[in-house]
Amino acid sequence: MNNAAPRLIPPRIQPPAKPLTGLAFLAAFVRNPLEVAPQAVYEQDLVVNQLGRVQRLWVTSPALVKAVLLDEREKFQKLSQIRLLAPLLGRGILTSEGAEWKWQRQASAPMFRHQDLLGFVPAFVRATESLLAKWRAAPEGAVQEVDRDMSRATFDVISATLLPSADRTVGAAVEESMQLFQRAGGWGQLFAMAGAPAWLPRPGMISGARGTVMLRSAVTAMLRERRAVETRTGTGQDTAEGRVPDDLMHRLMQARDPETGQSMNDQQLVDNLLTFYLAGHETTARALSWTLYLIARSPQWAAILKDEIARVTGGEPVRSEHIERLVLVQQVLKESMRLYPPVPMLSRQCVAPTRLDGVEIEPGATVVLPIYAIHRHTRRWEEPDVFDPGRFARENEAKIPRYQYLPFGAGPRICIGMAFAMLEATAMLATLLQKARFAPVPGRDPHPVARVTLQPGGGLPLKVTLR
Ligand code: HEM
Repeated sequence: MNNAAPRLIPPRIQPPAKPLTGLAFLAAFVRNPLEVAPQAVYEQDLVVNQLGRVQRLWVTSPALVKAVLLDEREKFQKLSQIRLLAPLLGRGILTSEGAEWKWQRQASAPMFRHQDLLGFVPAFVRATESLLAKWRAAPEGAVQEVDRDMSRATFDVISATLLPSADRTVGAAVEESMQLFQRAGGWGQLFAMAGAPAWLPRPGMISGARGTVMLRSAVTAMLRERRAVETRTGTGQDTAEGRVPDDLMHRLMQARDPETGQSMNDQQLVDNLLTFYLAGHETTARALSWTLYLIARSPQWAAILKDEIARVTGGEPVRSEHIERLVLVQQVLKESMRLYPPVPMLSRQCVAPTRLDGVEIEPGATVVLPIYAIHRHTRRWEEPDVFDPGRFARENEAKIPRYQYLPFGAGPRICIGMAFAMLEATAMLATLLQKARFAPVPGRDPHPVARVTLQPGGGLPLKVTLR
């Protein structure tokens, strides 16, 4: 990389020098849960806070992260994540534990085989092309709300690949309900963490509940329709409505719990369909949005990527065989997910007495894995706040310890969609950069806000010029 280029330090969170307590903690947590992580979290292996009777541990060293996510995972469960998301996602794959989780994971796994995923590349490119067509209709250099547009495009991708029977009505319902649900996010996370009962009144609760009902009923309707068609015809058959696809919905409908022999009932199917809709599009949309912002701020990397994409594709639409040769595009994506991890923090609850780094941990303690802070740890990353995709050049990436870079989590609960997301983001980013140039809007830099995903606070407007 050219060392003469100016260093880019994009927007970051200013951590409090000391742990916050009382009202200051509550106010910061509701505004942005990442703002309660004190500076020590970016410098030490383990930081312990006592909040009333609740022990809260911030875990950042690779060895301790591995203990929580892999070696001692039975002692650390997803209770507060489940409490936060269960009203929406029930007890699907993301929000269940133990045997209930395992068979749902096994039932979904065949959809994510690498060779099958490559077949989705044309769908990734098509969804991006329709977004570009929309932008093309606007005046040159018009400001576009990139974050909103990326959410639409990645939603189209999930609908076209894993769940092809979804229609536009479901799309609109998902988008609207998701906004309502996110609005309730800050309080929801706080209540989940404090162990408050789900029925306790709180701001945003009504809108969150309305969003949940809308979303679940849209997906239930879609499922009923599909059940009726499958009962009439069987999968893979040509019908008056078209061919019944062998998609994620079909696989989930066919799956059997190895212990009980039972298949999923409608509620479990809706739980999982919604999980894949939401986990599968919001996250990739965030990754793409933050990446476009970084590229808009770095003309040097914009030029490097443009050259690579032209060299690899020869100006043709991106195809599956191009993906592994888009090395620098993937480096930039990885660096973007280091600075702005789409899932900024994971949490687990301790369910059996244990020790971490010599500290005794009581059942009920909350263990936070602040991915955002782990990715900017001052002892583990050189100039952690600087945007430098060179960190992920092959020879450098090999030296990064496994549990120090975790955009997709780790251990058995690692993101099932990781390979899908990397292919999707690479194909979509390359297609966007082939056809468009991005520039920041002065005074409108986004700041990172932790909800379930890392949102760009203030939105993410960029000036877009089509090539
Ligand atoms: C850049 C994009 C993505 C990021 C950063 C991401 C991140 C994550 C993370 C960190 C987890 C682990 C949560 C935990 O341990 O508490 C997770 C789980 C999950 N992700 Fe993703 N994800 C992405 C894309 C996707 C896609 C495209 C899909 C589906 C098509 C997906 C489906 C899931 C599911 C179902 C789980 C739960 C897995 C389990 O508990 O067994 N994700 N994701």
